[in-house]
Amino acid sequence: MLVSAKDMLQKAYEGKYAVGQFNINNLEWTKAILLTAQENNSPVILGVSEGAAKYMCGYETIVGMVNGMMKELNITVPVALHLDHGSYQGALDAMAAGFSSIMFDGSHYAIEENIAKTTEMVKLTAEKGLSLEAEVGSIGGEEDGVVGKGEVADPAECKQIADLGVTMLAAGIGNIHGKYPENWAGLAFDALEAINASTGNTPLVLHGGTGIPEEMIKKAISLGVAKINVNTECQLAFQEATRKYIEAGKDLEGKGFDPRKLLNPGFEAIKATVKEKMELFGSINKA
Ligand code: 13P
Repeated sequence: MLVSAKDMLQKAYEGKYAVGQFNINNLEWTKAILLTAQENNSPVILGVSEGAAKYMCGYETIVGMVNGMMKELNITVPVALHLDHGSYQGALDAMAAGFSSIMFDGSHYAIEENIAKTTEMVKLTAEKGLSLEAEVGSIGGEEDGVVGKGEVADPAECKQIADLGVTMLAAGIGNIHGKYPENWAGLAFDALEAINASTGNTPLVLHGGTGIPEEMIKKAISLGVAKINVNTECQLAFQEATRKYIEAGKDLEGKGFDPRKLLNPGFEAIKATVKEKMELFGSINKA
C-alpha cells in the first residue's frame, strides 16, 4: 500500500540520512526503482512530473500501475507516490487519483500568493492524510517545462511556509535540474544552514540530485536535507546502456529486437544507479 512520505522523512531527518525521490517515466523505470528499494530494504519516493504524468496517460494510469506492481512484486518497503512540481490543478487531480504525496510548487508566485495557495494545500492534503512539499526560492534550469531562475531562498520566507505545516520544504540553494554547468558555484551551504535553523525540524528537499558531488550531498544531509530528487541521472544511465546494446549490434542477433531484451540493459542500469544513490543517501536498511 502506498504511504504518505511523512514518517519516512521525519525518521530520515532525525537519523541524518535522506530518502531518494526517483522520477518515473514508464513501466521499466517504476519496476526498476521498486525492486531496488525492496532488495535494499529502503524507503523510496516515486516522483512524477506533470509532463511525465501526461506521457504515462494520466494520474489514474500511474496509480493503477504502481499499486498493481507493489502487490504483484510483493513490495513491502514504504513507498510514496509523489507529484513533482505540481500546479494547483495538477495537485487536485493527482490527489483525486490516489497519489499519496503532493508537491505544490508555488515558487513562481509572489510569496503572499505562495503562502495563500500552500495554506489551502495543507488543508486539502491533511484531510486525506497525504504529505505535502512546498517550494521557496527556485530550482535553476528546466524540468519537463518547469523553468526556474535558481533564486536562493530567503530563510524568513522559508519559515513562513514551513510554519503552515508542510511536511517538507524544497528551498532553492543554488541547485539546478539536469546536468550542472562546468562553472557551477556549488550548493549555497550558508543559506541551507540558515534555512534549516529557521524552519524548525521540517525535513528539507534537495532537487537537482543529478551530478552533485558526494561530499556536497553528505554535507547537505548533515544540514537538514532528508529527501533528494534524482531524475536525469537515471535517464542518462538508461540511454548509455541502451546505446551500448544497439552499437554492439545485439538487437540484430537472434531475438535481440524483443523489447524485453532491448530495454533490459537500460532497466539494469537504472537499478544500479538507484542502488548507488541509496547507498550515498544512507537509506539502505531504513525501511
Ligand atoms: P535532476 O533531473 O537534476 O536529477 O533533478 C530531479 C529533480 O529535482 C526532480 O524534481
